[in-house]
Amino acid sequence: MTHETLIADGPKDDSFAAAVLDGLSRPEKTLPCRFIYDRAGSELFERITALPEYYPTRTEIGILESCAAEIVARTPAGTVLIEFGSGSSRKTEILLRALDRLAAYVPLDVSAAALEDASRRLHRRFPGLRVIPLVGDFRTPPRLPDDLADRPRLGFFPGSTIGNFAPDEAVLLLRSMAEALGRDGRLVIGVDLLKGAEVLIPAYDDAAGVTAAFNLNLLARANRDLGADFDLAAFRHEARFNEERGRIEMHLVSVREQVVRVLGQSFSFAAGESIHTESSHKYTSEGFRTLAARAGWTARRMWSDAAGLFSVHELSAGSVPRSSAVTSPPRLITS
Ligand code: AVJ
Repeated sequence: MTHETLIADGPKDDSFAAAVLDGLSRPEKTLPCRFIYDRAGSELFERITALPEYYPTRTEIGILESCAAEIVARTPAGTVLIEFGSGSSRKTEILLRALDRLAAYVPLDVSAAALEDASRRLHRRFPGLRVIPLVGDFRTPPRLPDDLADRPRLGFFPGSTIGNFAPDEAVLLLRSMAEALGRDGRLVIGVDLLKGAEVLIPAYDDAAGVTAAFNLNLLARANRDLGADFDLAAFRHEARFNEERGRIEMHLVSVREQVVRVLGQSFSFAAGESIHTESSHKYTSEGFRTLAARAGWTARRMWSDAAGLFSVHELSAGSVPRSSAVTSPPRLITS
């Protein structure tokens, strides 16, 4: 078994306490969604991915299954596959089954527990594969072992996690990934497509209440980790479609006037006042290509499902188009 130690990439100070105090002090209260994903939140997210209303996960998996062979066909032997925010690495298995002769797979995630579970499973299923789990935030580019420094790199960023960033921040993130992937780097990225509220709202406000519990986990975590006194019954989950900005927003709305104490500070809420906890931006295929171009990427190919719910883009670094960009324009495939 190829076993390598976790390389802690020294995640920069990113404290939940500071984020909560800052976010609740603003005139429009906010809490950053990345803090939803502690153990309980990650488990709730796994349940969301199986909900009938939540189309992104199963749709993206279907697309990846159809396009894996095409992605792999352009991946030279000795490539390093780097996944940003790898979580359970389930979608990666679709690529790994089609890819052989990878130099290494580098899953990067903030959760050491998720990395350990995934690495153990991958060692079992892909015995010859060198897996180098890195603990860290995908906003900080990973540092690879020296012997891999000169290998071609393929980045993988599925799940439409890019949608959690406002467009200007998304450009910065895509630029830092371009830097991490190098001059000949490529990036395969999943992007949820813009669609109507009748599909989007139920996807973020499911009948079983799992997304509500996921959102409320931010307050539960503040109670657990910071000794805050949020009354979870006094906040309700709300999904809003912000049409102007092309995004779904999750909010926690105070059902009454109340005061909450966190780390010795008091925060008052009016009845109906909300905490904005997550934005999930949606893009047209053209809109995402433009965004990627602002970060120095060239969109090469795009795959989608028959219903046009979700997209997977292949981007490459550098602005000189390869012949492929001319001969094979982005096209729609059916899954
Ligand atoms: C993991 C960011 C892709 O925005 O769809 C799911 C998170 N939030 N349900 C998304 C989420 C509410 C999800 N991402």
